[in-house]
Amino acid sequence: MSSSPIPEAREVKPTEEGMEALRMDEERGDDDKVTPWSVSAGSATGVDYDKLIAKFGCRKMTQELIDRIVKMTGKPAHPMLRRGMIFAHRDIEVMLKRKEEGKPFFLYTGRGASSGSLHLGHLVPFILTKYLQDAFDVPLIIQMTDDEKYLWKDLKVDETKKMTKENIKDIISVGFDPKKTFIFTNFDYMCPPFYENVVKVWKCVTTNQSRAIFGFTNEDSMGKAAFPAIESAPCFSSSFPHIFGKRVDIPCLVPCAIDQDPYFRMTRDVAPRLKYPKPSLIFSTFLPALQGAQTKMNASEPLSCIFINDTPKQIKNKINREAFSGGQPTVEEHRQKGGNCDVDISFQFLKFFLDDDDQLEQIQQDYTSGKMLTGELKQLAIAEVQRVIGEIAERRKQVTDATVEEFTKIRPLAYKY
Ligand code: TRP
Repeated sequence: MSSSPIPEAREVKPTEEGMEALRMDEERGDDDKVTPWSVSAGSATGVDYDKLIAKFGCRKMTQELIDRIVKMTGKPAHPMLRRGMIFAHRDIEVMLKRKEEGKPFFLYTGRGASSGSLHLGHLVPFILTKYLQDAFDVPLIIQMTDDEKYLWKDLKVDETKKMTKENIKDIISVGFDPKKTFIFTNFDYMCPPFYENVVKVWKCVTTNQSRAIFGFTNEDSMGKAAFPAIESAPCFSSSFPHIFGKRVDIPCLVPCAIDQDPYFRMTRDVAPRLKYPKPSLIFSTFLPALQGAQTKMNASEPLSCIFINDTPKQIKNKINREAFSGGQPTVEEHRQKGGNCDVDISFQFLKFFLDDDDQLEQIQQDYTSGKMLTGELKQLAIAEVQRVIGEIAERRKQVTDATVEEFTKIRPLAYKY
């Protein structure tokens, strides 16, 4: 088994179209780079997500799918879904069909704590996850990869555990329901059923394949090469007998940022060999850094991001001082030529978070025509970001160590199987 290629290698390879895009990028030398460890774009408008779809071989989110989700859940589509920031998927139809047939599935997502506080960019997949949990009413499992951060960063075990606990509190503050959500940390939850699945994945994937998918080299620790199986194993319901009982056949939908796709391409390849269902995926784009869409928000560069624990005043200052503007250098020129919303970070923030479509449309028109100035646009973005962070910060005040225990306790959730 060890040296045979992964069946359905199609999942791992880019499509023909994607290969062509890769060749063209190489010639031009201005590639977007998207891996689980680094994201950068060649252009001020950010990553070219259509190209990424072709490269990764996933599917574009269509209006037809969005309409179907709205119809079956009876909940309005989240603004990020309506506006293309939830832009791609793998086999989401499988989960929609199950829901229509009254068959169970669950949500699985995760987070590796690399900073003491989450920032706005980290929140995006969790906001999507919260929307999906509310819309579909299914169990949610959140993996905290303290082990991953220990392996990748210059951190002590205790430090990763401490940051993880703070991050769990931030995540809970997004508004998850403790009766429907199980959060676990890898250091604490490496129990027999989960570990058996990790080992099963290890046996299916060769070191060569792990390197080809993730780009590991000879110099990487064996821990790094082994880690992907640990992010893969929670896709299988048998990893959580306290929630799913003896059911080993309940599939999951993984909401995540597109950079996590390699883990799940690998998982989708091994699942049939383990006689487990393949996970489906739904992907979000990246929230751009304040300085511009060439990079995403990065916690190790505090001025590139807005943190959950930033005060309203800090939010105001960061946006005023740092947010890249698509406006013109002088008021006269701006009135004449208008601004560019595609590269303007304040506008991009509004696009992610402002619920009112008509208002957003009006802002876009006014800024593009030059009627609205950069300062005015920034005021709107400041108010909206303050609102989003404010709501989470308010809930965060109520979250204690006891709340963390409630969410991380090994227990059944509010569903029977
Ligand atoms: N590797 C992810 C990170 O660094 C954490 C993670 C674990 C995750 N499991 C996941 C993310 C499932 C999305 C979906 O943040």
